[in-house]
Amino acid sequence: AERNQQLKERLLELKKERNAIILAHYYQRDEIQEVADFRGDSFLLAQKAAETDADVIVFCGVHFMGESAKILAPDKTVIIPDERAGCPMADMVNVEGLRELKQKHPNATVVTYINSSAEIKAETDICCTSANAVKVIQSLDTDEIIWVPDKNLGHYVSQFTDKNMILWEGYCNTHDMLTVKDVEEMKAKYPDAEFVVHPECRPEVVEMADFVGSTTGILKYCKESDCQEFIVGTEDGTGYQLRLDSPDKKFHFATKFLVCPNMKVNNLKKLVRCLEDMKPQIYVPPHISEKAKLSLERMLQVK
Ligand code: 13P
Ligand code: SF4
Repeated sequence: AERNQQLKERLLELKKERNAIILAHYYQRDEIQEVADFRGDSFLLAQKAAETDADVIVFCGVHFMGESAKILAPDKTVIIPDERAGCPMADMVNVEGLRELKQKHPNATVVTYINSSAEIKAETDICCTSANAVKVIQSLDTDEIIWVPDKNLGHYVSQFTDKNMILWEGYCNTHDMLTVKDVEEMKAKYPDAEFVVHPECRPEVVEMADFVGSTTGILKYCKESDCQEFIVGTEDGTGYQLRLDSPDKKFHFATKFLVCPNMKVNNLKKLVRCLEDMKPQIYVPPHISEKAKLSLERMLQVK
């Protein structure tokens, strides 16, 4: 505890010295969320990165999030606590494969989940997050959509549109692991609880939910619902904000495996060290960055 206190004090000094802002995804360890200047889901964090007037953005999340921040704010220095915090789903799509698909469907609009690399975003017409995916799709006037990389989110979104959606076969290792049986068992154990779920889960699991939404959507729903107890079908770091918002409500995570190991690579010690060393820094080559920026900015403009 004393060690943590020292780290927190050093963090405050460094933040001032460097004019830095600390952004943290809701899936980060509690010790990081606790010291963040701003907590959010993928959408809110991208928006915040685009708007901030700090000189340095410390992005606590996974690699593609830091990269998106750098693309949106190319003049800022973006550092991350650990380069090894990646997203396996983002790695499930490669540029050659996407180009091939685009050639097969030359009239399709490419919609890419923000959980993707800068190179893929540079091949994209418009990005989305889980918070605005349906709005983004509905804003488009094309009939055909190439959707990368999350097939589960794609399946969810396809229920809200008549457009032909060609889904890439990617998925989130963490959310996709949740099964119907897991949820049935939890519902039997907590019959009064509402089941809330992230659309990165499998379609048959999403179908069982009382509420489906992005991390922010789930937080808002649980805060406002009259229900006092929830079975939560998303990453366990979300518990930090859920309990902060509603200290008297009960939150049962649907399994103990709803933990993204990549998100947990970061910790307080690494956070302080990266601000001390000003590395690792995110770098995106300009010819990639400029194209990727258009697809992110188009997303931010969708109302
Ligand atoms: P959101 O932040 O959009 O809820 O997405 C969850 C996620 O898996 C981020 O990696
Ligand atoms: Fe990627 Fe899933 Fe982890 Fe999010 S929770 S960073 S989608 S592996």
